[in-house]
Amino acid sequence: MTLIDAGPTGALRIAPSILAADFGALASAVHEIDVETDWLHVDVMDGHFVPNVSIGPPVVQSLRPYSGRFFDCHLMMSQPGRYLQAFKEAGADGCTVHVEVGDTATLIRDARALGLRVGLAANPDTPFEAVAPYLGEIDLLLLMTVFPGFGGQSFMGDVMNKVSEARREVDHNRLLVDIEVDGGIDTRTAPLAVHAGANVLVAGSAIFSRPAPLEAARALREAARSEL
Ligand code: DX5
Ligand code: ZN
Repeated sequence: MTLIDAGPTGALRIAPSILAADFGALASAVHEIDVETDWLHVDVMDGHFVPNVSIGPPVVQSLRPYSGRFFDCHLMMSQPGRYLQAFKEAGADGCTVHVEVGDTATLIRDARALGLRVGLAANPDTPFEAVAPYLGEIDLLLLMTVFPGFGGQSFMGDVMNKVSEARREVDHNRLLVDIEVDGGIDTRTAPLAVHAGANVLVAGSAIFSRPAPLEAARALREAARSEL
């Protein structure tokens, strides 16, 4: 399987979340926004870690031939370790696991051993201290700006303090770690997140629920750039 490069760590990245796309026409939805897509964010929900069910490896595999972008898989799962290999084989480039599920060091090691880019996610009420010990071992820190489970929720501005804290720590220690935010990101909130120190912006509704997704993705990038 060819590896798709994530690009330079720390650079601004727009990561449309397919959760808000029409699952019956995923390939064309993804194709339509391709030129404004840096990473494609794939939200995986197991109905246990979060109260919703979405998609799994078969959808990643089906979508893979239709996109040359980095597949950023966000595993909202209680037992992500059971599925890392399946995601890798399906065509995932990176997998992000939640710190709340525990067994973090093992999950990071297993994901790394599979050749995945490794992400660690924290819910809005999980303190920075919970992820801080792993910063030297991961490629991506995902700080949720909504409680995971559903698209279309409101951005939680309070999380920006944690984003700033993470950015300070990453820069201070010269770590090669991307800081991603996910939930309620739109042209109003993207600049706030970038200002606080995020460089990967996930957006579902603000892109796919708009009448013109490509223009919406472009507008999001412009709004984010204004804070650089
Ligand atoms: C939330 C997911 C998000 C979500 C973002 O559980 O992890 O990726 O799809 O959706 P919006 O952008 O609509 O908040
Ligand atoms: Zn997500």
